[in-house]
Order: sequence, then C-alpha cells, then structure tokens
Amino acid sequence: MSILGNRFELEKQIGEVAEVAGYLWQKGWAERNGGNITLNITDTVDDEIRKMSAISDIVPIGRKLPHLKGAYFFCKGTNMRMRDLARRPMENGSVIRILDDCSHYVIIADRPVKPTSELASHLSMHNYLIGKGSDYKAVLHTHPTDLIAMTHHPAFLEKDVLTYLLWSMIPETRAFCPRGLGIIPYALPSSFDLADATIRELDEYDVVMWEKHGVCAVGENIMEAFDKVDTLSKSAQIYLTAQSMGFEPQGMSREQMDELRIAFNLPK
Ligand code: 13P
Ligand code: ZN
Repeated sequence: MSILGNRFELEKQIGEVAEVAGYLWQKGWAERNGGNITLNITDTVDDEIRKMSAISDIVPIGRKLPHLKGAYFFCKGTNMRMRDLARRPMENGSVIRILDDCSHYVIIADRPVKPTSELASHLSMHNYLIGKGSDYKAVLHTHPTDLIAMTHHPAFLEKDVLTYLLWSMIPETRAFCPRGLGIIPYALPSSFDLADATIRELDEYDVVMWEKHGVCAVGENIMEAFDKVDTLSKSAQIYLTAQSMGFEPQGMSREQMDELRIAFNLPK
C-alpha cells in the first residue's frame, strides 16, 4: 500500500511533481538522470505517517540543518530518470524524514530509493527558506540547454548581465521571474561548496545558475519553480533565435522594464 493511498493533498502534490518531471523530459532538459526535485511535504503529514517506521538505515546528511527537525520531503531518487519519475513517482523517488538531531534522515516510503546526489544542496536550501520564514516548499534542479550554453561565455557570468538580458527579451520574464537569475561559479556537483554558494544567492534570487551545469529554482510549489525556469529559457530562446537570424536583439529598454516593474508592483 502506497503512502499516497487516501491522502488527497499528498497525492496531488506528488502528482504535480510527476507532471513537472514529464515537462522536463519533454523540454529536453533531463538527459538520462539529469536534474532533481525535492518537495517539503511536512504540512501534508498526519499522525499515521509520523509513526511509520524507517525502511532504510539512518543516513548522515553531512551537516546539521536546524530548521529541518522532523520535516518530511519527497525526493527524486539518485540515478533515476525524470521520464520515469513522471510515470511512476513512488518507484523513482521516496519520502524521507529528517531525524531530531537535524543531521540524519531515514526513508519511510514507499520503497528504499536513495535520494538525489544533490540532497545536500536541496536540504540546505529548504533549511535556509524555513529559517527566513518563506512559504517556498519546492526545489527544482534541471539542465536547460539554452541557459547552460550561455554560461560558457565569460561575459554572461558577470553579476546580473544575464538577468537584464533575459528580462529584456519579453515582458513575461520580467513579470514571472522578478528576482532574476543568480550566477554561481562552477563547483563540483553534489558538493557542500555548491550548496553553500547556492544558499548565499537565494537571498537575492529565486533561480540560480550553476555555471556549465544547470539551474536551481525555488517556489511555493513545483509548478511555480518550473515556470520561473521556463520563462528564463523562453527568453534565452528568443535571444538565440535572433542571433541565428544574424542580428543582436534590441531588447526592451531599461525604461520599458521599469515601467513594467511599477505597473505590476514587481521587486527591484
Ligand atoms: P541525481 O540523479 O543524483 O539526482 O543527479 C542528477 C544531477 O543532475 C546531478 O547534478
Ligand atoms: Zn545536475
């Protein structure tokens, strides 16, 4: 019997994760096992789930994350494919419980699927978000071809160069990714250095670029995190399409973007 049985809200949220996993594959952003998703599901957890015994050993996270005491997450499994997560989420991901010491976890359902290798970054991000009182529950890491390609040019690695360029391609990106795109210099995948650099950038941005690797986005739910990356990628597509037609796109002016910010009450 799955943990999802008769739990409407939990089933709905995991269903959205599966839906987004399918989009990532369709977008071409999820080669093999590329990308990962974690979702803070603590609000959907009932007493019966709290009493469920572990189906794994006790696993160290590698650091203490004080805001995660007793929290529950759905995590994509390491080495699992997004296209498989889309069809069978509970076979390609699992639910974990953070233990009271805040530095270990156990898997509780449905199967002992080992969580993503980027768990350190994901959990550090969740810990940071809870600590600052945010409503964000979803962390998405994915490999969008167009955005990653842009990080292979040093000019785009300068602070906020990509943010302004991508915002200027279409009003939607300014509106729906209003905090822009942070840039994190290349760091070893799965490392604590990458995790630390990511949480530093979350202060300013909802989406951060891991140079020559992929993006990491946060949101209240997984759809919102996906939409932020999708709008940025749309802008990158417009930029690349104009370039392939042989011209440098003009972009909206700073005045036009300011007008949009004021009209829609967007953050600076
Ligand atoms: P996992 O399969 O461990 O989630 O890793 C995929 C990935 O994109 C690493 O950055
Ligand atoms: Zn990756």
